[in-house]
Amino acid sequence: MAEEIYSPGLEGVIAGETAISTIAGGLQYRGYSVESLADHCSFEEVAFLVLEGELPQANQLAAFRDQLNDAMFINSEIVETLGKLPESSSMMDVMRTGVSMLAHWDPETGDNSHEANLRKSIRLLAQLPVVMAARERLRKGKKPIEPDAELSLAGNVLWQLFGEKPTESFARAMDVSLILYAEHEYNASTFTSRVVASTLSDLHSAIAAAIGALKGPLHGGANERVLEVLQEVGSSERAAKWVREALDNKRRIMGFGHRVYKTGDPRAVYLKTLCAELAVGRSEFEDMEQIAETIEQAVTSEKGLPPNLDWPSARLYHYMDIPVDLYTPLFVVSRVVGWSAHVIEQHDNNRLIRPRARYNGKSERTWLPISER
Ligand code: SDX
Repeated sequence: MAEEIYSPGLEGVIAGETAISTIAGGLQYRGYSVESLADHCSFEEVAFLVLEGELPQANQLAAFRDQLNDAMFINSEIVETLGKLPESSSMMDVMRTGVSMLAHWDPETGDNSHEANLRKSIRLLAQLPVVMAARERLRKGKKPIEPDAELSLAGNVLWQLFGEKPTESFARAMDVSLILYAEHEYNASTFTSRVVASTLSDLHSAIAAAIGALKGPLHGGANERVLEVLQEVGSSERAAKWVREALDNKRRIMGFGHRVYKTGDPRAVYLKTLCAELAVGRSEFEDMEQIAETIEQAVTSEKGLPPNLDWPSARLYHYMDIPVDLYTPLFVVSRVVGWSAHVIEQHDNNRLIRPRARYNGKSERTWLPISER
């Protein structure tokens, strides 16, 4: 019988093993630091690494990109449904619905073998940006835009959203953000995907569940709320007072704090530099960088809480004119790589995930007939 450990929210509990990434002493995917991957790789190379375990050779990368391009479409029934969903549907619910619909037409949904899971992961990686962009166009009364095989996955995200070929700097900024969001050990949504996979349920069910978990504002949903914070503060002069009041009111400031990173999120440090580069020459964005910096200083000095990845990612997407309710769906477009790798790892060496609970309810008592209750 394993030793019984109780920690609220499983804080500090090692709930399994993984060879995919580690966040002990900085973030590494399959042994490579995320900084070196963001410096030197494309998102496609990193997706191949996380899914297959090795960086691709040139021929493998070319074949991988061909697989993505061949899968980068969704059928007319799905497009039609995406157009009919209520206007009020949240984009995260659309992403979750999209995965569920894709499962109906995927030829290998019920096959949990390593090879089938890998093929399904690549199809989802290719299809999810198409679902997101198609819904964005349809809800604006526009026709969806076909992907362009000449563009990278990141470039296609921007092309399919705006109908304009992205600038080099925007395509690169999107690419880096997808690399940094791709994988993060046993975070809540990834752990959710592993719990679902551990019952031998299928990859699409695990990814749909993970999207449900990521939607929450304590997790992926934070990046959309970060922009509200920046706009609510509105100027550097107001930052310190605003932060003090927020903390006095026990308000959670979105984009700060982390369950594991207590001395700073390396991804936030990396992306902050890219934000500053993208803001150059645009006064409203340079002002926002200044406001962000003063908030960061205030939160760090008042509460000792460093920013997490969501803090700069909201600015980066804002500078690329991406609608704010697409920020967390972009997290999905990237994190589907990590979720898939964890589902594959779980299926390949499975043990049902079933922790215990500490009971704090009524002690045993005798039943009474309703006339005596
Ligand atoms: C992601 O886990 C992952 O890896 C996630 C992620 C990934 O890549 O998958 O990194 C992505 O989800 C990043 C986190 C995005 N969420 C937010 O930015 C939401 C705001 N942050 C928090 O709510 C909070 O920091 C959590 C949920 C992220 C972590 O919270 P914990 O570990 O449960 O910490 P806690 O709630 O026990 O707080 C400890 C103290 C408390 O103060 P006291 O009551 O002890 O005085 O810190 C305070 C909290 O009030 N605190 C905050 C705060 N975060 C913690 N106070 C104000 N603002 C915050 N953001």
